[in-house]
Amino acid sequence: MNFPMYSNESDIRSAAEQIRDGRVVVFPTETVYGLGANALDPRAVEAIFEVKSRPTDNPLIVHLATPDEIGRVAIDVSPTAHRLLAEFSPGPLTIVLPASRDLPRVVTAGLETVAVRIPAHPVAQGLIRASGVPVAAPSANRSGEPSPTTAAMARRSLGAAPAAYLDGGPCEIGLESTVIAVSGDEVHILRPGAVTEADILAILPDVTVHAGSVAGTEATAAASPGTRHRHYEPKGEVILYNDVDRLREFLQQAGQTVRHGIIGPADDLMGWPGVVRSYVDLREYARNLYAWFDEFDQSGVSIVFAYLPDGSGFATALRDRLIRASGGRRIGRRGTIEEQ
Ligand code: TXA
Ligand code: MG
Repeated sequence: MNFPMYSNESDIRSAAEQIRDGRVVVFPTETVYGLGANALDPRAVEAIFEVKSRPTDNPLIVHLATPDEIGRVAIDVSPTAHRLLAEFSPGPLTIVLPASRDLPRVVTAGLETVAVRIPAHPVAQGLIRASGVPVAAPSANRSGEPSPTTAAMARRSLGAAPAAYLDGGPCEIGLESTVIAVSGDEVHILRPGAVTEADILAILPDVTVHAGSVAGTEATAAASPGTRHRHYEPKGEVILYNDVDRLREFLQQAGQTVRHGIIGPADDLMGWPGVVRSYVDLREYARNLYAWFDEFDQSGVSIVFAYLPDGSGFATALRDRLIRASGGRRIGRRGTIEEQ
């Protein structure tokens, strides 16, 4: 049996040293793996963009160990933002705040705002504390690819470029954090994630939450630059379906000539032949989605049929990533592929 070798305290200390020395390191969070560098060192932050081939107009999230450190990177934190940070930190929530003058603008892609998150994963917490600096980190993948949810996926994507890889096992959530912007008593969800509109309203019933539309409207794209770019796409083509009978008919007509993989609810896929990955609930789907894409890519699957769940709450984040990964292609009512 193969036991994973997770990083220990001395690995974390030496990775923190690399961060202090201006290098980039891969580390686990509860959402996805990050590629971190000292947010206060512009050359270190530039290295993140180079390693990922990330467009320089796409700003980074700055990671802190506690909400108390927010003054190091942001100013004018509103009572609403404070309340949300206090409630959901540490955790999968990122808040866009006015940026401190001292924060290098390469982090924010020139914007006067900074996205801040306090990750819960103990290895991420340990790394940030040991480095003693705010850690700028996008997901640890080459730009455009799905985010890695294991250290091995990050390594396959980024190779030897990072100075260190910390391994904290598979990520618990598996989708990137919820990104929000707060203005007055309005909250805009710029990227849906595990912290949902309902979660926010449960804490602050009097705010208005603007959820944007799944996979981004024009307004969302303008407010959150990253959503403009190609995102979350595996090498194989992703085609969505929401009715297993229609998928069966589609595959019969297509004659199953291409190597394909299927992702869907366990109840629907019981006894299906071929390369199938199934889940019993949406948390399990989210936790495994990117790892399944990666497995399919590695086994030469060229088309992935992925179930598109309905519903609000957590389903919103999954739908957002699935629609981006597929470019909106799905099996329509007439059993043909439609673009959304
Ligand atoms: O879960 C996560 O958020 C992971 C882990 C590593 O923390 N990070 C992550 O980073 O997903 P990245 O760079 O892949 O996505 C950051 C998103 C992008 O859509 C970016 O445009 C948006 O946050 N963002 C960053 N700064 C922003 C700002 N000042 N205003 C609006 N959106 C911002
Ligand atoms: Mg990313």
